[in-house]
Amino acid sequence: MKKKGFIFDLDGVIVDTAKYHFLAWKKLANSIGIDFSEEQNEQLKGVSRKASLEKILAWGNVTLTEEEFAELMSKKNEDYLGYINEMNEEEILPDVPKILNFILGKNQGVALGSASKNAKSILEKVNLLNKFEAIVDGNEVSKAKPDPEVFEIAAREIGMEPHNCIVFEDSLAGIQAANAIDMCSIGIGDATVLKDADFVFKDFTEISTDFINQLIND
Ligand code: BG6
Ligand code: MG
Repeated sequence: MKKKGFIFDLDGVIVDTAKYHFLAWKKLANSIGIDFSEEQNEQLKGVSRKASLEKILAWGNVTLTEEEFAELMSKKNEDYLGYINEMNEEEILPDVPKILNFILGKNQGVALGSASKNAKSILEKVNLLNKFEAIVDGNEVSKAKPDPEVFEIAAREIGMEPHNCIVFEDSLAGIQAANAIDMCSIGIGDATVLKDADFVFKDFTEISTDFINQLIND
């Protein structure tokens, strides 16, 4: 019997695309005379494309017309797609398939909860599309993380109550979103950044199958 729902973020959790988002945003920001640091970039993780550009413009004190704004969003995405078009299974982060397959082997619910509108094509490229019972991405949500909408929909689609769900996230916004609806939040990355998470691991190589069993049986 399915006891728990495991919801995975995509960028920076399953694949190392967070670095490509950073490169593409940095290039775009620099092209309009704005610069930002890696610390500031943490605030862009998990956040929608639109909300990311709004933050960058605010940092640079720049206002744009609607047309200019739309043009910059598509420019950023074109540049980003240049990176992800080259992706294959080798870019799956270490031990993600091991943990994912372990969870699936235990017949638990598995969903994707990502802000990205490119989520499905990335999963296809790395050959993981068929592992998810539900895929909720940036095309289906109207409120960006830290709003919990994306995780709420994911839980519903796999037939689980939010408090029986576990979220894997690399962004502070995503951890806050999970916490807001009483999901168990597992940070993947830097413990100082992800300080609000219930648990933090550097990456999936630090997560044992015993730990997953504990989460299932808790
Ligand atoms: C999130 C990333 O997963 O998706 C953000 O962490 C990104 O950095 C957001 O801005 C939206 O992605 P996309 O692919 O729709 O531009
Ligand atoms: Mg992420």
